[in-house]
Amino acid sequence: MPGVATRFDDLGVGFAPYLQPPPEGVIRWTVGEPGFETPDPVISTAISELKAGKTKYTRGQGSIKLCEAVSSHLMSTSGISYSSENIVITPGAKQALLYAYMTTLNPGDEAILLTPCWASYEPMISIIGATPVNIPVNRTNFHPDIGAIRSAVTDKTRSIMVNSPCNPTGAVYTRQEIEEIVAIAVEHDLWIISDEIYSRLIWNGTDHVSPATIEGGLDRTIVISGWSKTWAMTGMRIGFLAGPSNAAKAAVKCQANSASHVPTFMMEAARAALDCDDYVDDFADAYRKRRDMMLRGLGDIPGLRIVDPEGAFYLFVDVTGTGMTDVEFADRALEAGVQLIPASLITHGEGFVRISYAAPEEDIKEGISRLRLWLLGDSKTD
Ligand SMILES: Cc1ncc(COP(=O)(O)O)c(C=O)c1O
Repeated sequence: MPGVATRFDDLGVGFAPYLQPPPEGVIRWTVGEPGFETPDPVISTAISELKAGKTKYTRGQGSIKLCEAVSSHLMSTSGISYSSENIVITPGAKQALLYAYMTTLNPGDEAILLTPCWASYEPMISIIGATPVNIPVNRTNFHPDIGAIRSAVTDKTRSIMVNSPCNPTGAVYTRQEIEEIVAIAVEHDLWIISDEIYSRLIWNGTDHVSPATIEGGLDRTIVISGWSKTWAMTGMRIGFLAGPSNAAKAAVKCQANSASHVPTFMMEAARAALDCDDYVDDFADAYRKRRDMMLRGLGDIPGLRIVDPEGAFYLFVDVTGTGMTDVEFADRALEAGVQLIPASLITHGEGFVRISYAAPEEDIKEGISRLRLWLLGDSKTD
Protein backbone atom coordinates (compact mmCIF):
# COMPACT_ATOMS: atom_id res chain seq x y z
CA MET A 1 0.00 0.00 0.00
CA PRO A 2 1.46 3.44 -0.85
CA GLY A 3 2.19 5.75 2.10
CA VAL A 4 0.17 8.89 2.80
CA ALA A 5 1.89 12.28 2.82
CA THR A 6 4.32 12.48 5.75
CA ARG A 7 2.81 15.68 7.10
CA PHE A 8 -0.09 13.53 8.39
CA ASP A 9 2.30 11.39 10.51
CA ASP A 10 2.12 13.50 13.65
CA LEU A 11 -1.03 15.44 12.87
CA GLY A 12 -3.19 15.78 15.99
CA VAL A 13 -6.93 15.26 16.20
CA GLY A 14 -7.30 17.38 19.34
CA PHE A 15 -10.12 16.38 21.65
CA ALA A 16 -11.59 13.85 19.19
CA PRO A 17 -10.95 10.73 21.35
CA TYR A 18 -12.95 12.31 24.18
CA LEU A 19 -15.78 13.53 21.96
CA GLN A 20 -17.09 10.01 21.38
CA PRO A 21 -20.36 9.27 23.21
CA PRO A 22 -19.51 7.88 26.70
CA PRO A 23 -20.78 4.55 28.07
CA GLU A 24 -24.50 4.57 28.94
CA GLY A 25 -25.33 6.35 32.18
CA VAL A 26 -22.24 8.61 32.07
CA ILE A 27 -22.92 12.37 32.09
CA ARG A 28 -21.42 14.00 29.00
CA TRP A 29 -19.72 17.34 29.69
CA THR A 30 -17.42 17.15 26.69
CA VAL A 31 -19.06 18.15 23.47
CA GLY A 32 -19.33 21.83 22.51
CA GLU A 33 -22.80 21.44 21.11
CA PRO A 34 -25.87 23.45 22.12
CA GLY A 35 -28.36 21.10 23.76
CA PHE A 36 -31.32 22.95 22.20
CA GLU A 37 -33.58 22.19 19.28
CA THR A 38 -32.71 24.12 16.12
CA PRO A 39 -35.16 27.07 15.80
CA ASP A 40 -38.43 26.09 14.06
CA PRO A 41 -38.18 28.73 11.30
CA VAL A 42 -34.84 27.22 10.24
CA ILE A 43 -36.25 23.70 10.02
CA SER A 44 -39.43 24.74 8.21
CA THR A 45 -37.49 26.86 5.72
CA ALA A 46 -35.04 24.02 5.02
CA ILE A 47 -37.94 21.63 4.39
CA SER A 48 -39.85 24.01 2.14
CA GLU A 49 -36.68 24.77 0.18
CA LEU A 50 -36.11 21.05 -0.34
CA LYS A 51 -39.70 20.63 -1.48
CA ALA A 52 -39.26 23.59 -3.83
CA GLY A 53 -36.45 21.70 -5.57
CA LYS A 54 -33.47 23.62 -4.14
CA THR A 55 -31.35 20.53 -4.55
CA LYS A 56 -29.15 21.54 -7.50
CA TYR A 57 -25.82 23.38 -7.89
CA THR A 58 -25.91 27.07 -7.07
CA ARG A 59 -23.66 30.14 -6.62
CA GLY A 60 -20.41 28.89 -5.05
CA GLN A 61 -19.75 31.89 -2.83
CA GLY A 62 -23.24 31.60 -1.30
CA SER A 63 -26.58 32.98 -2.49
CA ILE A 64 -26.54 36.73 -3.04
CA LYS A 65 -29.43 37.11 -0.56
CA LEU A 66 -27.58 35.20 2.16
CA CYS A 67 -24.30 37.07 1.58
CA GLU A 68 -26.22 40.35 1.83
CA ALA A 69 -27.94 39.17 5.00
CA VAL A 70 -24.60 38.19 6.58
CA SER A 71 -23.12 41.55 5.63
CA SER A 72 -26.01 43.39 7.38
CA HIS A 73 -25.85 41.00 10.33
CA LEU A 74 -22.12 41.68 10.86
CA MET A 75 -22.79 45.42 10.82
CA SER A 76 -25.78 45.31 13.17
CA THR A 77 -24.29 42.89 15.73
CA SER A 78 -20.58 43.82 15.71
CA GLY A 79 -20.18 47.00 13.65
CA ILE A 80 -18.11 45.14 11.02
CA SER A 81 -18.38 46.58 7.51
CA TYR A 82 -17.68 43.98 4.85
CA SER A 83 -19.91 44.13 1.76
CA SER A 84 -21.76 41.03 0.51
CA GLU A 85 -19.04 40.55 -2.15
CA ASN A 86 -16.56 39.99 0.68
CA ILE A 87 -18.54 37.16 2.29
CA VAL A 88 -18.07 33.45 1.49
CA ILE A 89 -20.61 30.94 2.87
CA THR A 90 -18.79 27.74 3.82
CA PRO A 91 -19.55 24.23 5.15
CA GLY A 92 -19.12 25.24 8.80
CA ALA A 93 -16.78 27.76 10.38
CA LYS A 94 -14.18 25.00 10.39
CA GLN A 95 -13.92 24.98 6.60
CA ALA A 96 -13.81 28.79 6.61
CA LEU A 97 -10.84 28.62 9.00
CA LEU A 98 -9.05 26.18 6.72
CA TYR A 99 -9.64 28.52 3.75
CA ALA A 100 -8.34 31.44 5.82
CA TYR A 101 -5.11 29.58 6.51
CA MET A 102 -4.85 28.26 2.94
CA THR A 103 -5.17 31.77 1.54
CA THR A 104 -2.72 33.46 3.90
CA LEU A 105 0.06 30.90 4.39
CA ASN A 106 2.69 29.45 2.11
CA PRO A 107 4.58 26.33 3.18
CA GLY A 108 7.29 27.37 5.66
CA ASP A 109 5.40 30.44 6.90
CA GLU A 110 4.58 30.89 10.59
CA ALA A 111 1.14 31.46 12.13
CA ILE A 112 0.79 32.65 15.73
CA LEU A 113 -1.68 30.92 18.04
CA LEU A 114 -2.53 32.09 21.57
CA THR A 115 -2.57 28.84 23.51
CA PRO A 116 -4.32 26.88 24.88
CA CYS A 117 -6.63 27.33 21.93
CA TRP A 118 -9.20 25.41 19.90
CA ALA A 119 -7.70 22.06 18.94
CA SER A 120 -8.09 22.31 15.16
CA TYR A 121 -6.05 25.46 14.42
CA GLU A 122 -2.68 23.79 14.89
CA PRO A 123 -3.34 20.77 12.59
CA MET A 124 -4.85 23.08 9.94
CA ILE A 125 -1.64 25.11 9.82
CA SER A 126 0.46 21.94 9.68
CA ILE A 127 -1.63 20.43 6.85
CA ILE A 128 -0.61 23.42 4.72
CA GLY A 129 3.06 22.83 5.53
CA ALA A 130 3.29 26.01 7.61
CA THR A 131 4.43 26.22 11.25
CA PRO A 132 2.17 26.96 14.23
CA VAL A 133 3.89 29.22 16.76
CA ASN A 134 2.24 28.69 20.14
CA ILE A 135 2.34 31.67 22.48
CA PRO A 136 0.95 30.86 25.95
CA VAL A 137 -1.73 33.15 27.34
CA ASN A 138 -1.57 34.36 30.93
CA ARG A 139 -2.42 31.25 33.00
CA THR A 140 -4.24 33.13 35.73
CA ASN A 141 -6.91 34.76 33.54
CA PHE A 142 -6.27 33.34 30.04
CA HIS A 143 -5.82 36.79 28.51
CA PRO A 144 -3.12 37.33 25.88
CA ASP A 145 0.48 38.18 26.74
CA ILE A 146 0.97 41.07 24.33
CA GLY A 147 4.73 41.32 24.94
CA ALA A 148 5.17 37.62 24.15
CA ILE A 149 3.17 37.98 20.91
CA ARG A 150 5.33 40.92 19.88
CA SER A 151 8.55 38.99 20.61
CA ALA A 152 7.33 35.96 18.63
CA VAL A 153 7.02 37.83 15.33
CA THR A 154 9.72 36.88 12.80
CA ASP A 155 10.26 37.46 9.08
CA LYS A 156 8.19 34.35 8.45
CA THR A 157 5.15 35.33 10.54
CA ARG A 158 2.01 35.83 8.46
CA SER A 159 -0.91 35.78 10.90
CA ILE A 160 -2.21 35.96 14.45
CA MET A 161 -5.30 33.98 15.47
CA VAL A 162 -7.74 35.74 17.77
CA ASN A 163 -10.57 33.65 19.21
CA SER A 164 -12.59 35.81 21.58
CA PRO A 165 -14.70 34.54 23.33
CA CYS A 166 -12.28 31.64 23.50
CA ASN A 167 -12.78 27.90 23.33
CA PRO A 168 -11.52 26.35 25.64
CA THR A 169 -10.71 29.08 28.19
CA GLY A 170 -13.83 31.28 28.09
CA ALA A 171 -11.67 34.44 27.97
CA VAL A 172 -13.12 37.53 26.28
CA TYR A 173 -10.29 39.84 25.23
CA THR A 174 -10.59 43.49 26.20
CA ARG A 175 -10.82 46.29 23.66
CA GLN A 176 -7.30 47.35 24.67
CA GLU A 177 -5.92 43.84 24.07
CA ILE A 178 -7.58 43.68 20.64
CA GLU A 179 -6.20 47.14 19.82
CA GLU A 180 -2.69 46.04 20.83
CA ILE A 181 -2.93 42.90 18.68
CA VAL A 182 -4.10 45.00 15.71
CA ALA A 183 -1.20 47.39 16.31
CA ILE A 184 1.30 44.49 16.13
CA ALA A 185 -0.37 43.24 12.94
CA VAL A 186 -0.23 46.69 11.35
CA GLU A 187 3.40 47.18 12.37
CA HIS A 188 4.49 43.86 10.83
CA ASP A 189 1.92 43.70 8.01
CA LEU A 190 0.25 40.53 9.33
CA TRP A 191 -3.19 39.01 8.88
CA ILE A 192 -5.50 38.60 11.85
CA ILE A 193 -7.78 35.61 11.66
CA SER A 194 -10.63 36.36 14.03
CA ASP A 195 -12.73 33.34 14.98
CA GLU A 196 -15.88 35.00 16.31
CA ILE A 197 -18.12 31.93 16.53
CA TYR A 198 -18.98 32.63 20.19
CA SER A 199 -19.45 36.41 19.81
CA ARG A 200 -23.10 36.29 20.89
CA LEU A 201 -22.21 34.42 24.11
CA ILE A 202 -20.54 36.96 26.43
CA TRP A 203 -21.25 36.95 30.17
CA ASN A 204 -19.06 39.69 31.66
CA GLY A 205 -21.16 42.62 30.47
CA THR A 206 -18.67 43.78 27.84
CA ASP A 207 -19.38 44.12 24.12
CA HIS A 208 -17.81 41.86 21.54
CA VAL A 209 -14.86 43.67 19.92
CA SER A 210 -13.80 42.47 16.49
CA PRO A 211 -10.29 43.41 15.25
CA ALA A 212 -12.07 44.34 11.99
CA THR A 213 -13.62 47.33 13.78
CA ILE A 214 -10.32 48.73 15.10
CA GLU A 215 -8.47 51.32 13.03
CA GLY A 216 -6.09 49.51 10.67
CA GLY A 217 -7.88 46.19 11.26
CA LEU A 218 -10.46 46.05 8.49
CA ASP A 219 -8.11 45.41 5.59
CA ARG A 220 -6.09 42.73 7.43
CA THR A 221 -8.76 40.80 9.38
CA ILE A 222 -10.53 37.68 8.16
CA VAL A 223 -13.62 37.21 10.31
CA ILE A 224 -14.84 33.65 10.73
CA SER A 225 -18.17 32.66 12.19
CA GLY A 226 -21.12 30.37 11.65
CA TRP A 227 -24.51 29.10 12.67
CA SER A 228 -23.49 26.04 14.75
CA LYS A 229 -23.24 27.54 18.22
CA THR A 230 -25.52 30.59 18.14
CA TRP A 231 -28.51 28.93 16.45
CA ALA A 232 -27.94 25.29 17.55
CA MET A 233 -27.24 24.18 13.96
CA THR A 234 -24.04 22.11 14.38
CA GLY A 235 -25.12 19.30 12.03
CA MET A 236 -26.32 21.64 9.31
CA ARG A 237 -22.68 22.53 8.57
CA ILE A 238 -22.85 26.15 7.63
CA GLY A 239 -20.52 29.01 8.44
CA PHE A 240 -18.87 31.96 6.73
CA LEU A 241 -15.72 33.94 6.15
CA ALA A 242 -15.68 37.72 5.70
CA GLY A 243 -12.60 39.67 4.78
CA PRO A 244 -10.87 42.10 2.46
CA SER A 245 -11.52 41.45 -1.22
CA ASN A 246 -8.18 39.69 -1.92
CA ALA A 247 -8.83 37.20 0.88
CA ALA A 248 -12.48 36.69 -0.06
CA LYS A 249 -11.58 36.13 -3.73
CA ALA A 250 -8.90 33.59 -2.81
CA ALA A 251 -11.36 31.81 -0.47
CA VAL A 252 -13.89 31.60 -3.32
CA LYS A 253 -11.17 29.81 -5.32
CA CYS A 254 -10.55 27.39 -2.41
CA GLN A 255 -14.24 26.60 -2.26
CA ALA A 256 -14.66 26.33 -6.06
CA ASN A 257 -11.95 23.69 -6.07
CA SER A 258 -13.14 21.72 -3.06
CA ALA A 259 -16.64 21.89 -1.55
CA SER A 260 -18.21 23.91 -4.45
CA HIS A 261 -20.79 25.37 -2.03
CA VAL A 262 -22.96 24.54 0.97
CA PRO A 263 -26.19 22.61 0.31
CA THR A 264 -28.44 24.85 -1.80
CA PHE A 265 -31.50 24.44 0.44
CA MET A 266 -29.47 25.65 3.45
CA MET A 267 -28.96 29.17 2.06
CA GLU A 268 -32.51 30.31 2.86
CA ALA A 269 -32.60 28.29 6.08
CA ALA A 270 -29.48 30.10 7.30
CA ARG A 271 -31.04 33.42 6.30
CA ALA A 272 -34.12 32.55 8.36
CA ALA A 273 -31.87 31.93 11.37
CA LEU A 274 -30.52 35.47 11.22
CA ASP A 275 -34.05 36.68 12.03
CA CYS A 276 -34.32 34.41 15.09
CA ASP A 277 -32.98 36.81 17.71
CA ASP A 278 -35.58 35.71 20.27
CA TYR A 279 -34.19 32.16 20.16
CA VAL A 280 -30.61 33.43 20.49
CA ASP A 281 -31.57 35.47 23.56
CA ASP A 282 -33.34 32.48 25.15
CA PHE A 283 -30.34 30.21 24.51
CA ALA A 284 -27.99 32.83 25.99
CA ASP A 285 -30.15 33.13 29.14
CA ALA A 286 -30.06 29.34 29.55
CA TYR A 287 -26.26 29.21 29.13
CA ARG A 288 -25.82 31.98 31.68
CA LYS A 289 -27.92 30.01 34.16
CA ARG A 290 -25.95 26.80 33.49
CA ARG A 291 -22.65 28.63 33.87
CA ASP A 292 -23.76 29.98 37.25
CA MET A 293 -24.91 26.50 38.34
CA MET A 294 -21.47 25.10 37.46
CA LEU A 295 -19.65 27.86 39.34
CA ARG A 296 -21.82 27.40 42.43
CA GLY A 297 -21.60 23.61 42.29
CA LEU A 298 -17.85 23.24 41.67
CA GLY A 299 -16.44 26.55 42.93
CA ASP A 300 -15.85 25.44 46.54
CA ILE A 301 -14.17 22.10 45.81
CA PRO A 302 -10.63 22.23 47.24
CA GLY A 303 -7.92 21.69 44.63
CA LEU A 304 -9.95 23.09 41.71
CA ARG A 305 -9.10 26.58 40.46
CA ILE A 306 -11.89 27.95 38.32
CA VAL A 307 -11.58 31.24 36.46
CA ASP A 308 -15.08 32.65 35.86
CA PRO A 309 -15.67 32.15 32.14
CA GLU A 310 -16.32 35.51 30.46
CA GLY A 311 -17.90 34.01 27.36
CA ALA A 312 -18.60 30.87 25.25
CA PHE A 313 -19.88 27.77 27.10
CA TYR A 314 -16.79 26.19 28.64
CA LEU A 315 -15.16 26.06 32.05
CA PHE A 316 -11.39 25.62 31.92
CA VAL A 317 -10.52 24.19 35.32
CA ASP A 318 -7.01 23.98 36.80
CA VAL A 319 -6.92 20.60 38.58
CA THR A 320 -3.25 20.66 39.63
CA GLY A 321 -4.31 21.42 43.23
CA THR A 322 -5.88 17.95 43.48
CA GLY A 323 -2.47 16.33 43.02
CA MET A 324 -3.75 14.54 39.90
CA THR A 325 -2.70 15.13 36.32
CA ASP A 326 -5.49 16.29 34.03
CA VAL A 327 -5.61 12.82 32.44
CA GLU A 328 -5.83 11.12 35.85
CA PHE A 329 -8.54 13.57 36.87
CA ALA A 330 -10.54 12.91 33.68
CA ASP A 331 -10.14 9.12 34.05
CA ARG A 332 -11.30 9.20 37.68
CA ALA A 333 -14.17 11.57 36.82
CA LEU A 334 -15.26 9.03 34.20
CA GLU A 335 -15.25 6.32 36.88
CA ALA A 336 -17.41 8.68 38.97
CA GLY A 337 -19.80 8.93 36.00
CA VAL A 338 -18.82 12.25 34.35
CA GLN A 339 -17.04 12.59 31.01
CA LEU A 340 -14.85 15.69 30.63
CA ILE A 341 -11.76 16.51 28.57
CA PRO A 342 -8.14 16.49 29.81
CA ALA A 343 -6.58 19.55 28.19
CA SER A 344 -3.07 18.12 27.89
CA LEU A 345 -4.34 16.84 24.53
CA ILE A 346 -3.74 20.39 23.29
CA THR A 347 -0.64 22.57 23.45
CA HIS A 348 -0.16 24.31 26.84
CA GLY A 349 -3.29 22.66 28.27
CA GLU A 350 -1.48 20.49 30.84
CA GLY A 351 -3.09 20.59 34.28
CA PHE A 352 -6.51 21.73 33.05
CA VAL A 353 -9.74 19.99 32.14
CA ARG A 354 -12.37 21.44 29.83
CA ILE A 355 -16.01 21.22 30.84
CA SER A 356 -18.78 22.15 28.42
CA TYR A 357 -21.86 23.64 30.07
CA ALA A 358 -23.81 23.45 26.85
CA ALA A 359 -25.06 20.19 28.43
CA PRO A 360 -28.73 20.02 29.49
CA GLU A 361 -29.53 21.45 32.93
CA GLU A 362 -30.39 18.09 34.50
CA ASP A 363 -27.02 16.71 33.35
CA ILE A 364 -25.25 19.67 34.94
CA LYS A 365 -27.01 19.03 38.26
CA GLU A 366 -26.36 15.30 38.18
CA GLY A 367 -22.70 15.75 37.10
CA ILE A 368 -22.05 18.22 39.93
CA SER A 369 -23.58 15.81 42.41
CA ARG A 370 -21.38 12.94 41.16
CA LEU A 371 -18.17 15.01 41.22
CA ARG A 372 -18.91 16.30 44.73
CA LEU A 373 -19.60 12.78 45.95
CA TRP A 374 -16.27 11.62 44.49
CA LEU A 375 -14.15 14.59 45.61
CA LEU A 376 -15.87 15.68 48.85
CA GLY A 377 -18.23 12.97 49.94
CA ASP A 378 -21.27 15.32 49.71
CA SER A 379 -23.68 15.74 46.81
CA LYS A 380 -24.85 19.36 46.91
CA THR A 381 -26.01 20.28 43.40
CA ASP A 382 -26.73 23.98 43.56
C1 LIG B 1 -13.52 28.11 18.40
C2 LIG B 1 -14.26 27.31 17.37
N1 LIG B 1 -14.16 27.67 16.08
C3 LIG B 1 -14.78 26.98 15.11
C4 LIG B 1 -15.56 25.89 15.41
C5 LIG B 1 -16.20 25.14 14.26
O1 LIG B 1 -17.56 25.41 14.13
P1 LIG B 1 -18.41 24.81 12.94
O2 LIG B 1 -19.34 23.80 13.54
O3 LIG B 1 -19.17 25.98 12.38
O4 LIG B 1 -17.50 24.22 11.93
C6 LIG B 1 -15.71 25.48 16.73
C7 LIG B 1 -16.48 24.28 17.06
O5 LIG B 1 -16.35 23.68 18.12
C8 LIG B 1 -15.05 26.22 17.74
O6 LIG B 1 -15.17 25.90 19.04
